[in-house]
Amino acid sequence: MYDFEFYNPTRLLFGRSSLEQLDTLVPNDARVLLLYGGQSAKRNGTLAQVSQVLGKRICAEFGGISPNPDYHQLLQAVEQIRQQKLDFILAIGGGSIIDAGKFIAAAVPYQGEPWEILETDGRHIDQALPLGTVLTLPATGSEMNNCAVISNSTLGLKRSFRHPSVFPRFSVLAPQLSFSLPQPQVANGVVDAFVHVTEQYLTYPVDAKVQDRFAEGLLLTLIEEGPKALAEPENYRVRANIMFSATMALNGLIGAGVPQDWSTHKLGHELTVRHGLDHAVTLAILLPAMLRLRKTAKHAKLLQYAERVWQLSDGSEEQRIDAAIEQTRLFFESMGIKTHLSDYGIGHEAIAPLLENLERQGLTQLGEDGRVDLELSRQVFQASL
Ligand code: NZQ
Ligand code: ZN
Repeated sequence: MYDFEFYNPTRLLFGRSSLEQLDTLVPNDARVLLLYGGQSAKRNGTLAQVSQVLGKRICAEFGGISPNPDYHQLLQAVEQIRQQKLDFILAIGGGSIIDAGKFIAAAVPYQGEPWEILETDGRHIDQALPLGTVLTLPATGSEMNNCAVISNSTLGLKRSFRHPSVFPRFSVLAPQLSFSLPQPQVANGVVDAFVHVTEQYLTYPVDAKVQDRFAEGLLLTLIEEGPKALAEPENYRVRANIMFSATMALNGLIGAGVPQDWSTHKLGHELTVRHGLDHAVTLAILLPAMLRLRKTAKHAKLLQYAERVWQLSDGSEEQRIDAAIEQTRLFFESMGIKTHLSDYGIGHEAIAPLLENLERQGLTQLGEDGRVDLELSRQVFQASL
């Protein structure tokens, strides 16, 4: 296991009645900006519940944040906070809203053009407004990490930054808030969390037994509970297990002291930027192809994955690995997500512009070993058609 530091200051409040605790979590004299997305938080009553619990506190609202939040829209929220002298952000929603909250929190006190925050991976941030979250979509893990992914429609880019000051101070995880999710979003959440685990687990062994077994536990839980979440949308126990899995998948724990990949995510962001595919859909398409093409570098961990996660012990090593990759793809399909680019009307001609965008950003040495270069990325897109 490599040396590591594990730091995570986010306080989790988990359970049916966790929302009520907002009253003790948000300072009494806070001037709060409630941040939310299109319609869901209003329609399913979450926003009203939050407002009720916050009682007499000064609350302003900024709604309408779109999935894959856009930089230009977020600047309006930055302006609102500065004008109204607000000092606390409460993000109510999924990864897009929480990421938006992190960016806004860092941008309000930032001197200079806030896009620099994304260009410099947050290196020049020195402070951020306090942020709390109420999670409505288990998927990204943003509720317990210090990373945010922001798109820029003008530049055609999707970039991320991280900084310790944007860890949420607290996150309220009330699984019943996810009952109203449409099926595709439930599936997206399960698949995104699954791939967060594989990006940190399917690399090469460093004898990190706790991280490996924790990762395998998360994968097994998602495989077991994912289909139930589609079949029984109001099963609290199922949603609770999925929500906790998604949070644990990307809060730094399973990634501590182990090599990490993230090439599937980087290539996936390009598909979202250019073709508008949901984040998790891009991962479901690319991961099987990535694993097939990286079988040699990932041999030992793929074999472990085949045995411990998919219980495959018959046949040659090569056969077991192939079967595990195919089971992974079929799992995504069983969640209702199609796993080929052609299923979304994307053909061969789309590949060159995707590669150009990767090159423009210097994303030419991806993966745990830096070996996912442009040629390998081309092969992954090609094999995903
Ligand atoms: O806009 P509304 O009407 O609220 O609808 C949303 C949205 O359309 C809906 N939704 C959320 N909760 C709901 C609900 N609908 C009904 N009932 C509820 N309870 O779901 C739709 C998608 O929401 P979004 O927040 O975009 O989804 P997700 O959580 O998948 O977030 C995706 C974003 O997170 C980034 C992705 O790149 C993408 O921009 N990621 C962030 C990461 C991080 N910060 O660590 C890591 C991830 O790998 C990922 O890149
Ligand atoms: Zn993801």
